[in-house]
Amino acid sequence: MVIALIIKGILAPLIILLLYSNSKALQNQEQQIRNFWENIFGEVYQIRKQTFVKNSAFKPEYNQSRYNVAESPVYCKKSDSYKMVHPDIVLQDYYVWRDYPPTNLPKKITLDKTFAVLDKVSPSKTASYKYEYQLPLQLGFIYTTVSSLYNNYVWGKGLGCVLQKYSHIPGKSSVAMKNQLIDNFMKYIRDFEKKNITNPECKRNASFIPETYRLNDEDDCKAFFETFKTDDYQKKFKKYGPQYILKTNQHRGEGITVLFENETKDILEEYNYGQECGNISKQVIAQRYISNPFLYKGHKIEFRIYYTIISTKPVIAYSYSRALIKRCAKPFSVHSTEKGAHVCNTAIVKNLVKTDKDDEEIEDEEFFIDWYLEGLEDLLIKQGRAKKGWLQSYLYPKIHRSLIHMTKATYHSFARDSTFGEFFAVDFLLDDNLDVWVLEVNYNPQILSVTPDRIKRNYKMLEDHFELQYAYIKSKLYRLSQFGKTLMKNNAKSILNQSKQVEELLRDKLESQFELSKENLYVKIMDEGQPGTQAYTNLISKECLK
Ligand SMILES: *[C@@H]1O[C@H](CO)[C@@H](O)[C@H](O)[C@H]1NC(C)=O
Ligand SMILES: *[C@@H]1O[C@H](CO)[C@@H](O)[C@H](O)[C@H]1NC(C)=O
Ligand SMILES: *[C@@H]1O[C@H](CO)[C@@H](O)[C@H](O)[C@H]1NC(C)=O
Ligand SMILES: *[C@@H]1O[C@H](CO)[C@@H](O)[C@H](O)[C@H]1NC(C)=O
Ligand SMILES: *[C@@H]1O[C@H](CO)[C@@H](O)[C@H](O)[C@H]1NC(C)=O
Ligand SMILES: *[C@@H]1O[C@H](CO)[C@@H](O)[C@H](O)[C@H]1NC(C)=O
Repeated sequence: MVIALIIKGILAPLIILLLYSNSKALQNQEQQIRNFWENIFGEVYQIRKQTFVKNSAFKPEYNQSRYNVAESPVYCKKSDSYKMVHPDIVLQDYYVWRDYPPTNLPKKITLDKTFAVLDKVSPSKTASYKYEYQLPLQLGFIYTTVSSLYNNYVWGKGLGCVLQKYSHIPGKSSVAMKNQLIDNFMKYIRDFEKKNITNPECKRNASFIPETYRLNDEDDCKAFFETFKTDDYQKKFKKYGPQYILKTNQHRGEGITVLFENETKDILEEYNYGQECGNISKQVIAQRYISNPFLYKGHKIEFRIYYTIISTKPVIAYSYSRALIKRCAKPFSVHSTEKGAHVCNTAIVKNLVKTDKDDEEIEDEEFFIDWYLEGLEDLLIKQGRAKKGWLQSYLYPKIHRSLIHMTKATYHSFARDSTFGEFFAVDFLLDDNLDVWVLEVNYNPQILSVTPDRIKRNYKMLEDHFELQYAYIKSKLYRLSQFGKTLMKNNAKSILNQSKQVEELLRDKLESQFELSKENLYVKIMDEGQPGTQAYTNLISKECLK
């Protein structure tokens, strides 16, 4: 239908004629329409650059690229115009650039399911991070593990064109780095008072992370060591075991210390019972340990939710409705001093740059439980703790609310543009009260081929992901073609006096004709293009949203 609309519009004479002939006159005609669009896009970038620079914490990166591919200043003009003249490139196909490693599953899926472009591109050996190749005009989704390409190209000219999506957000460390996530979380919660949000339930519902202290912050650190002196702590420790864990910025369970007796002694000595607070700048956080985890066959379990921010202008996010569940290696007991009873992902090793046999495959597959969260519902029904529909009516809303608050607490540092998005895996813990807690947030998540079922699932997930990315690119193409039609009708030469309109059409929005297919497991949970509580799919009440 959309194709029909576009064909009916400005492109009709061109496309139909191109189908039947290839004469010079027609090439001229194509060239004319491309020229029209190149002129329009030249001005679109000017308008976009203004707002991008204005709104971004990353001003330097926009115009101080370290490496400029020779042709980069005109690449976007050519690419976007080419797509406007040949909309099937966007409407019919996926053109995806996945970089390395060459043997892993995401690369294989990209090669199988899309026109994978730039198969051979890898960072130059001589200058790290330098990409020397001219990119193909068709490229739509830049699904690279490299997350700072905006340093390599003039963004919006050499790459990051209007009809492209990039899978990383400049400024994502505010959510992806543990210490920053904690800082932002605490500030977010504190701001509830500043915003005069008085209902304590608002704060409680927004608390996606357990009580936390930053040991490099003098006040936090002192407050933390004070708690050790209380009877309450001593009592709880005796009865329920470790009350806190220490975390550094490492991922995947590394850098986690459970404060058993000896470890507690160590930390008390290191900080001299709090006397050294303020003198030690090491970035460590202490976090209340959830000592009542939900148990599956006696083991603690964690689940991983795949979460995609599709745009940062406005912020739009989707959660994937098929979680990966893993259980801890050792049976859980609060008094067990084995780390494997408390931390579920210690055994996972990863080295992105290594090729060949990825050592990520060494992951202990036996610890992954091959059922979905639906299985958890069944289990709870058997235990008499839940009714049919619990997952959809209780658990997913809770998970989604946590993800929304997590995003709101951290997005102030994101560069805002509809080309920027990020694919995250968020690890959650479920406690015995059936509350959920965010444990960590990973970008460039592992997508492994450990079992045939996992391979099948991951194929589906990435295909769903490509569909999602392209649904937004198609929507933008559609808006642009409508805009172009009007311009042509009015014989307009310049759009600089319509910058508000142009900004509006560049803001990401899913046009109704590009809704995701029914089988797609991505669910929209956040869209700040929508008014009021609808922006958060009504998961946050009005009184909590001042
Ligand atoms: C980058 O852009 C900003 C804002 O437009 C400008 O002030 C600055 O001088 C530019 N820097 C360079 C190196 O062009
Ligand atoms: C906060 O809200 C209460 C009632 O909702 C109101 O009485 C009070 O004046 C507000 N304070 C500020 C600083 O806005
Ligand atoms: C704790 O420390 C003591 C003394 O250093 C040692 O004997 C004991 O084995 C340690 N316990 C654990 C569980 O490491
Ligand atoms: C730690 O800081 C306090 C206050 O600044 C100071 O009095 C004390 O000497 C410092 N301790 C060490 C070991 O530097
Ligand atoms: C923009 O400028 C053109 C002339 O360059 C004029 O015809 C048109 O009406 C203007 N549009 C707006 C919205 O002001
Ligand atoms: C807090 O969350 C619960 C669901 O978990 C919801 O019923 C309640 O209305 C929320 N409270 C507020 C003030 O939004």
